Amino acid sequence: MNILILGSGGREHSLAWAIKQNPKCDRLIVAPGNAGMAEIAECAALNIEDGGAVATFAEENAIDFVVIGPEAPLAAGVADRLRAAGFLCFGPSKEAARLEASKGFTKEICDACNAPTAGYARFTEAEPAKAYIREQGAPIVVKADGLAAGKGVIVAMDLDSALDAIDDMFGGEFGAAGAEVVIEEFMEGEEASFFILSDGKNILPVGTAQDHKRVGDGDTGPNTGGMGAYSPAPIMDASVTQKALDEIVQPTVDEMARRGTPYQGVLYAGFMIKDGQPRLVEYNVRFGDPECQVLMMRLGAQALDLLLACAEGKLDEAQVNWADDHAMTVVMAANGYPGAYQKGSEIRGLDALPEDSMNMVFHAGTKEVDGKITANGGRVLNVTARGTTLQEARDRAYAMAEAIDWPEGFYRKDIGWRAL
Ligand code: AMP
Ligand code: GLY
Repeated sequence: MNILILGSGGREHSLAWAIKQNPKCDRLIVAPGNAGMAEIAECAALNIEDGGAVATFAEENAIDFVVIGPEAPLAAGVADRLRAAGFLCFGPSKEAARLEASKGFTKEICDACNAPTAGYARFTEAEPAKAYIREQGAPIVVKADGLAAGKGVIVAMDLDSALDAIDDMFGGEFGAAGAEVVIEEFMEGEEASFFILSDGKNILPVGTAQDHKRVGDGDTGPNTGGMGAYSPAPIMDASVTQKALDEIVQPTVDEMARRGTPYQGVLYAGFMIKDGQPRLVEYNVRFGDPECQVLMMRLGAQALDLLLACAEGKLDEAQVNWADDHAMTVVMAANGYPGAYQKGSEIRGLDALPEDSMNMVFHAGTKEVDGKITANGGRVLNVTARGTTLQEARDRAYAMAEAIDWPEGFYRKDIGWRAL
């Protein structure tokens, strides 16, 4: 079959890598793609948030299956447009994508299905929001309702930071995303991410992972899109996993179906776990980046069968063949990230690295210029490895990172510290 993947990050490179290994895949196109994806697929320049343009492209190229990587095209309704044109597509409708696009909506769904989550209140004006914060006290969490590229959440450890966050949000710092604000109880515990496929009715877990959001070693410095991840997440043991599925994920999927807006795609659930009890922090309506890289490393070629079963509404017939393995990915980023950084520096040493089912460098912000791989973004490479233990995966990943010659980049040296 002919497959089109939308996106250009490390997440989409790992999806392309896994899908390409499946014999069902004949032709693979990625849009817009990056230098790493160009080695295994055709890259097409396409505005992936324009559903009409994507549908026309899919028609012209006889595409059988479209996999949507990032949230922006989902929130823009690209999956709806493709399905209306008769294409098989992996990713939720615009209405179902509100589980990520509106934090207030997610809270409403949690209320409707009694899913454990932080206590909260929603506001559209600053003064009542501030009064609520003063009444509740700190620590407290202030969130812009809409999509804010991962920056719309302020975990305020004192009252003044919470009140300042209200001024910033209603002052327009996050644009339309901050027109409504959700104020949440601060939850303590350990965080983990859980990835579950849903075909609208049936669910199938496809792995757990733990991300490292802060830029610096020891979880210090500003937040980023994610500096590294590993799978599985040991905190998600069998009991926590079952509770998460029974009390949170399945009730959410049932509630979405009951409302006539079934959820079809991957549900990325972030949990706070304390004393063996998971509570929902947030949903995303796509795979995590870099969490997808470790999931794909572990799933390999079967990922395509699973995504297809999800899109076809046949998850009840699907199953995951798990190896008893671990994977880790280490993000290499341009110096300065998540602040200002330079583009265009050359990355050397990639050709000498092994590329197989145990070792892969997934590209994120890279571009080929005159036969050389250059940095073209903040997060640039995802050095990813698998092993029978997490330590083995870690040793492999760091050996590759050390062999990459890129003085203009950096990486965290402690990915996996919590688990090891
Ligand atoms: P979100 O974008 O909702 O995942 O929030 C980003 C990060 O903020 C999460 O990964 C948590 O570390 C933290 N966070 C969000 N909500 C809460 C909460 N209610 N209590 C404690 N930490 C939170
Ligand atoms: N790594 C966090 C995310 O993809 O949202």
